[in-house]
Amino acid sequence: MSKFKWGAATASYQIEGHFNEFRTIWDRFAEQEGKVFKNHNGEVACNHLNFYKDDVQLMKELGIDTYRFSISWARIFPKKDQVSQEGLMFYKNLLTELRDNNISSNVTMYHWDMPDWVYEENIGWVHPETVDYFLKYTKLIIDELDDLVDEWATLNEPFCSTYLGYGVGVHAPGHSNLEEFFKSVHNIYLAHAKTVKYYRENYNGKIGIVINMSHIKPLSDSQKDIEASWIHDAMFNKMFMHPVFKGVYPRAMYLLAEKYEIDLDFIKEGDLELISTPLDFLGINYYTHAVIKHGEWAPFFVEEIKTDLPKTDMEWDIAPYGLGEVIKRVRDKYTDIPIYITENGAAFDDVLEDGEVHDQDRIDYLEQHINVVLDMKESHNIQGYFVWSLLDNYEWAFGYSKRFGIVYIDFETLKRVPKDSFNYYKNKITK
Ligand code: FCB
Repeated sequence: MSKFKWGAATASYQIEGHFNEFRTIWDRFAEQEGKVFKNHNGEVACNHLNFYKDDVQLMKELGIDTYRFSISWARIFPKKDQVSQEGLMFYKNLLTELRDNNISSNVTMYHWDMPDWVYEENIGWVHPETVDYFLKYTKLIIDELDDLVDEWATLNEPFCSTYLGYGVGVHAPGHSNLEEFFKSVHNIYLAHAKTVKYYRENYNGKIGIVINMSHIKPLSDSQKDIEASWIHDAMFNKMFMHPVFKGVYPRAMYLLAEKYEIDLDFIKEGDLELISTPLDFLGINYYTHAVIKHGEWAPFFVEEIKTDLPKTDMEWDIAPYGLGEVIKRVRDKYTDIPIYITENGAAFDDVLEDGEVHDQDRIDYLEQHINVVLDMKESHNIQGYFVWSLLDNYEWAFGYSKRFGIVYIDFETLKRVPKDSFNYYKNKITK
């Protein structure tokens, strides 16, 4: 078995800054009233674009084996038919800097920052043409960068790009439409699968996907709570795990389609076979669990309840046991390919005092979750753990108001200050 990889993760839009050289669907979304905290956007973020060398030095000091980051589609294709050489050069430089510092790379091709021109043209993942645009982009980055990349992941958390973006509208592009949700899942998965196919046919390296999973349970054993929990589990977990690892969509999708008279004839013969092309690894992002009850007025009668467990600054329950449950489920129901925990971490209301951040609550969160991973890593073939996140960053609809980093960012000066959790993680992984 290969050596267990300790890592840290980030994503392009959340840290790089784009200085208006291009526009993404998140820039469009952030301009709309009431969608993003104080209309924050990723224009400057952590200015990783210019500080990437300092950030790689932080990684080196931290002692990680792997850096997980994403490439911005819009940086590479700022306009429909325009490839940015400067954009490509940025990623070549970053990858070279990582190699020079003995840090391997796990590179995500899509972490939600779709170029705005794709959206203008056809509203994004709902339209099958987006699959072709995406393929043009992924083929290009594979051809240009594969010799510098250690491992590729096609998508980050398709649940967020589709359900949150097209189903309930709390993420860009902000649509709330069940039919669009189903279509966007199918198209984003065709984009994933065609990329994997291209890679398999032309390259020999490793390629996988990153899916966020939650452990979902009903509040009581009443029939109604069980049904609500079953629907939520289907929308959150099965909708994304079933196609990739079983080549089917979950039954709940067909039931909802029938109930709401949604035509599923966009699913063509052979699509699901393609979507279930074998992968080299599965990345799991885990943050919390969910306890569900039947809610008379809630969408699909699914209501998430507030438990009395301790919470992070996102109001998410701290539930490390759920990570163990998710891993067991993957092994029992889906696949035996290597697993990485590609994201895990917590937001807390950090305070910078005399140049220090004493984030004991984050240390406790990490310790509890990492211990689950350490207990299960041999028995369940878990090959890595990547903390979310290296840096405080743009937390999507929450703007810069939520801090997930083990390095504090002063968003005025962009100064980086390692928190206590940075030292905790450093000691934990070098032991
Ligand atoms: C995940 C995202 C990541 C970050 C964390 C907190 O859903 O992949 O970008 O926002 O949540």
